[in-house]
Amino acid sequence: MNSARPFTYSGTNLTCDGVSLSSLAEEFGTPLYVYSAAQISARAALFQQAFAAHAHTICYAVKANSSLAILKMLAAQGCGFDIVSGGELARVIAAAGPEVAGRVVFSGVGKTAPEMDAALAAGILLFNVESEPELELLAARAQLAGKKARIALRVNPDVSAETHPYISTGLSAHKFGISIKLARQVYARAAQHASLEPAGVSVHIGSQIRQVEPFAEALAKTLALVTELRADGHNIRYVDAGGGLGIEYADKPFDAATQVAQYATALQTALGTMQVHLLLEPGRFLVGQAGALLTRVLYRKQNGDKRFVIVDAAMNDLIRPALYQAHHEIVPVVLRDNAATEEVDIVGPVCESGDFFARARTLPQTEDGDLLAILDAGAYGLSLSSNYNTRLRPAEVLVESTGPRLIRRRETYEELFAPEIP
Ligand code: LLP
Repeated sequence: MNSARPFTYSGTNLTCDGVSLSSLAEEFGTPLYVYSAAQISARAALFQQAFAAHAHTICYAVKANSSLAILKMLAAQGCGFDIVSGGELARVIAAAGPEVAGRVVFSGVGKTAPEMDAALAAGILLFNVESEPELELLAARAQLAGKKARIALRVNPDVSAETHPYISTGLSAHKFGISIKLARQVYARAAQHASLEPAGVSVHIGSQIRQVEPFAEALAKTLALVTELRADGHNIRYVDAGGGLGIEYADKPFDAATQVAQYATALQTALGTMQVHLLLEPGRFLVGQAGALLTRVLYRKQNGDKRFVIVDAAMNDLIRPALYQAHHEIVPVVLRDNAATEEVDIVGPVCESGDFFARARTLPQTEDGDLLAILDAGAYGLSLSSNYNTRLRPAEVLVESTGPRLIRRRETYEELFAPEIP
């Protein structure tokens, strides 16, 4: 198996940092997300070391996995956060206390006035502004609050990166950012507002990008703009290089340290001797491979010549295969001696044909009641989950050096109905 994962077999039993996954499934039930704290903190440390030569802050992209325990852990390691909503602001403050706001950047194309007000009151580091109307609203809200908002424009560098079309963002065809060609004008306008302080430039070209060249190209274009903006008299201190560094989902070797080193070299080469404080917004790279979704086989069924394995997790728990045709490795939690392999579709109980985790996948034969682990599910797993079909979302366990700890208990039906008015 891909050695970049914390999930390894001890004899015939799959473990997470030495903890048996069967025992976790037994204790906490399934579907269950299990994360390795050691891997998350090792990935954050890799990033910090790779950029050690340059002033930087890692602003973890909360949307990848917003569990309070994980946010708390990353904050303790010195990370800041990239948020995209008032909800994420509330989460990072709940997890890490109000002082964390000084390390928070706020991205997103649709910030509302109440969200801006909350971020101004909290005193966040930087607003990544994505349009002129947003800039005007922020200026008005900051003025009303008697605050000065530090801003960066998120520029759209028109750089193409090879990734799934739903998660590519850096082309002018996308809704994100302000065209880099118009940016100077917009900065000039921003500087006219006493309530705004242009302090940075930001760029984010997409997600699950494995080649480092597009990042370097986007940063080089951004830095050229920084030089112009400084000449125009703006005190630009921050360059936010966004997130998007990819991981390996297939069963292939993957060396996370090399990947991040190449990324850091590419960015730092583009930076040269330029004095800026670099902000980085990794999400998936820190948490993706640290997590697995455990699920139990409910039934096996044959329709014509197709074989289905029906499991107790579904698209509402992990939507990546349904939404992006994403590949996730699926492995048995307990290996059987000499198990024959078979080609199966692994599907969930939700009433949608799109409710699958794998199609035509060759796997060791399973029996009802067997446990499977869907790997690399730490990013955009629980955070993209829903209660569709009135299903309770999975519980979450974090395996720490002191042992496994439940960090999100399973919901109850009463909690699901609580906001409703019959
Ligand atoms: N910064 C900004 C402004 C972003 O929009 C994103 C992700 C990130 C950072 C973090 O990107 P990462 O390092 O995780 O690639 N749900 C999709 C991914 C959507 C990414 C959205 N933006 C998936 O499951 O693949």
